[in-house]
Amino acid sequence: MAKILLTGASGYIGSHTLLSFREQGYTDIIAVDNFSNSHPEIYDRIAAISGMPVKHYNVDVRSDAFETVFTENPGIEGMIHFAAYKSVPESVEKPLEYFENNVSGLVHVMQLCKKYGVKVFVFSSSCSVYGNIDVLPVMESSPLNPPESPYAASKRIGEELLQSWAGTGAGIKIINLRYFNPAGAYKNGLLGELPLNRPANLVPVLCANALDPGTAFTVFGTDYNTPDGSCIRDYIHVSDIADAHVAAFVYASNSADTTFFRTYNLGSESGTSVLEVIRVFSEENGVTLNYTLGPRRSGDVEAIWADCSLALAELGWKPRRSLGEIMRSAWQWTLNYTKS
Ligand SMILES: NC(=O)c1ccc[n+]([C@@H]2O[C@H](COP(=O)([O-])OP(=O)(O)OC[C@H]3O[C@@H](n4cnc5c(N)ncnc54)[C@H](O)[C@@H]3O)[C@@H](O)[C@H]2O)c1
Repeated sequence: MAKILLTGASGYIGSHTLLSFREQGYTDIIAVDNFSNSHPEIYDRIAAISGMPVKHYNVDVRSDAFETVFTENPGIEGMIHFAAYKSVPESVEKPLEYFENNVSGLVHVMQLCKKYGVKVFVFSSSCSVYGNIDVLPVMESSPLNPPESPYAASKRIGEELLQSWAGTGAGIKIINLRYFNPAGAYKNGLLGELPLNRPANLVPVLCANALDPGTAFTVFGTDYNTPDGSCIRDYIHVSDIADAHVAAFVYASNSADTTFFRTYNLGSESGTSVLEVIRVFSEENGVTLNYTLGPRRSGDVEAIWADCSLALAELGWKPRRSLGEIMRSAWQWTLNYTKS
């Protein structure tokens, strides 16, 4: 089995992806994270679930120390690059930090992949690259409208750099995965999202509120052109997203094309409004949430959901877990880690 390096491996999607690779028989996995938005204890949880310790490095992918990972682990074939900052509102406050980490960090990872002969590169992009779109569901061929946030811009630049690099015949096969809204937690709530920074994504906000309903959270925007006025998103189980990385890696590995660059949407193919998510979460988990209705938030698009037929046709991937499962597993995880 190929040797694979995951950056951002103790983060939310990275940790679930590490487990998916292990479940598919990949044992030679190296994890890199600087814990800027995650906890080292996530590796203990992965080890407990998979029965194998995680080989990991506490380094920043922008640093010179990152190269040590390649010299100490010769023959890395796959790079799964998650490490980035991911908060849309924070990126509006700190755009240069986002460009520095998400773009400069990516370029450094690309340079080392080139230097050490990595064969397959999987990039974490985002549906935010589509901007505000007119025609739904969105397809990979849909036009990319102006980014609504510095975060979205950083992902779009990342995609362009990688596509341009692939076109030069760089000899590395690149898969660009556009995630919609990853949510939920590993089965039985044994692993989930444990961010260091204040969560900006909806489901972790609901979990925090269900635990401590004393302070209301805000629903940003109730005057969008949607049935109930709140934003519509496409929620996809994090383990479905994780499984797609294994499928993507295998697909790219099997290609003989030296200019290989493919983009895939990863969503559930259905849109759910913020207010509907609140209702489903409450019903599935039997909890009451405390929220207020507020104005729109800078950087948010109105509505988006995915067409994922390309990933099904080429990667053989489709989402298998329901919205209810997302909500139940997220809450189960919250209860598990707050008790432990
Ligand atoms: N979660 C989402 O809603 C979502 C949606 C679309 C795309 N993405 C992208 O997916 C990737 C993973 O997202 P996530 O939800 O797991 O986020 P996360 O914050 O949980 O994980 C990212 C990890 O990268 C680490 N990291 C950040 N900068 C680093 C650096 N310079 N060097 C080393 N480690 C660094 C963080 O400590 C964190 O553990 C990101 O690139 C994100 O932009 C996420």
